[in-house]
Amino acid sequence: MADYLPTAPYRGTRDFLPAEMSVRTEVFERLYEVIERYGYLRYDGPILEPVEIYEAKSSREIVEQQLYTLTDRGDRRLALRPEMTPSVARIIAGNAGKLQFPVRWYSHPNCHRYERPQRGRVREHWQINVDVFGSESPACEIEIFELIHDMMAALRAAPEMWVLRVSDRVLLNAILTTMLEIPAERVRDVSALIDRWEKYPHDQLGQEASELGLTDKQFHRLGEILSAGDALLDELPADARERSVLMHVLQSDARDLITFDPLIVRGFDYYTSTVFEVFDTSVENRRSLFGGGRYANLVGLFCAAQIPGIGFGMGDVTLMDFLRTHDLLPAPRSEVDVAVIPVGETLAEPARRLARELRRAGLRTSTPLETRKLGKELARASKAGARVAVIVGQDEWTAGTVTIRNMVTGDQQQAPVGAAPATVATMLD
Ligand code: HAM
Repeated sequence: MADYLPTAPYRGTRDFLPAEMSVRTEVFERLYEVIERYGYLRYDGPILEPVEIYEAKSSREIVEQQLYTLTDRGDRRLALRPEMTPSVARIIAGNAGKLQFPVRWYSHPNCHRYERPQRGRVREHWQINVDVFGSESPACEIEIFELIHDMMAALRAAPEMWVLRVSDRVLLNAILTTMLEIPAERVRDVSALIDRWEKYPHDQLGQEASELGLTDKQFHRLGEILSAGDALLDELPADARERSVLMHVLQSDARDLITFDPLIVRGFDYYTSTVFEVFDTSVENRRSLFGGGRYANLVGLFCAAQIPGIGFGMGDVTLMDFLRTHDLLPAPRSEVDVAVIPVGETLAEPARRLARELRRAGLRTSTPLETRKLGKELARASKAGARVAVIVGQDEWTAGTVTIRNMVTGDQQQAPVGAAPATVATMLD
């Protein structure tokens, strides 16, 4: 047997055939529409970035285990972007002088992470990023949370299908340093332990906690705090409550949009305050659907200006899993709505001209590239999803008419050639 190259895409990446692509396009367009209704404008940037922008301040896991890196011919170290936030911080810093803040931007990049492919995790995913720059007001949080609710509604997701869990790093730090008296240099590691709280068995967490220097009493108390829910808010130190942006949201009428949950940590070093994740309530999808947070100093890596940001990244894989689980995926789009079929080679030209007229009238129309028998062409048109066929036969054409067939019912009618676009348009309405 000949030794062909593999047809499968590189492990952890995906090909999207047109039917699937049409479903994705429909889903994403609904989301873009909602995002733009809030006044966010779309931007883009390069897939290759200097590796340093991730090393400076991102996530340990991404930098140490998941970056795709390469060295270019000029010996520059580059990475395929694993996320968009460092890129957008760079772009904001580079253009800050020209921008009117607050800036509301969104993008839809593909991102690469070297992960073990599994449910909800691949090596190339697409991520809708929505961020606001230049404001410290809790109004940003509220706007982002309202936007998330509207995006989920646009996908027809009922409120009980998902939950927006929110915490604040300021509160977390106070829990760890003041309430549990954990030394400042241990806060990052203990935070990472909390990030794994729901994924690991209790014994293993206990083991890791003791390796981090926590006493049994501290570990037990940590467990109590993490499961206290809203009651915890009253126990928190006053100065942390004052500094926390989230506390202002929790005291506003936007309180109902979110669930306070100190288990939400998020793995990125750049988050400084509010952190949040959206979860599917169905047990089938245990991974978070998407997440984000507030980052006070990331833009400061690139310029002297202090420009805070807050936003989130919504991944396509977890989103599609969610929509599939809840039976919310839209139907794939048909290839065309109308097929113009010549009966015999000599009518191919008139059929092509008529097809063009129909397209000018805004109808998605195909006509065969090769002439086949009428029955075969009708079967192909039906498979392509055409709801109407316009049959161009010799006698009718000579008389200035065509046959218009409703492909769903099989009903046929004659119409003058000039009236065909309007007749077909009415049938498709
Ligand atoms: P993240 O939580 O790493 O955050 O990614 C956001 C979302 O992207 C995840 O919730 C998930 O839906 C999707 N995602 C991430 N990695 C993968 C993967 N390997 N396979 C499939 N989907 C994946 C960030 O990236 C932040 N930069 C988001 C952000 C924007 N924060 C503020 N603005």
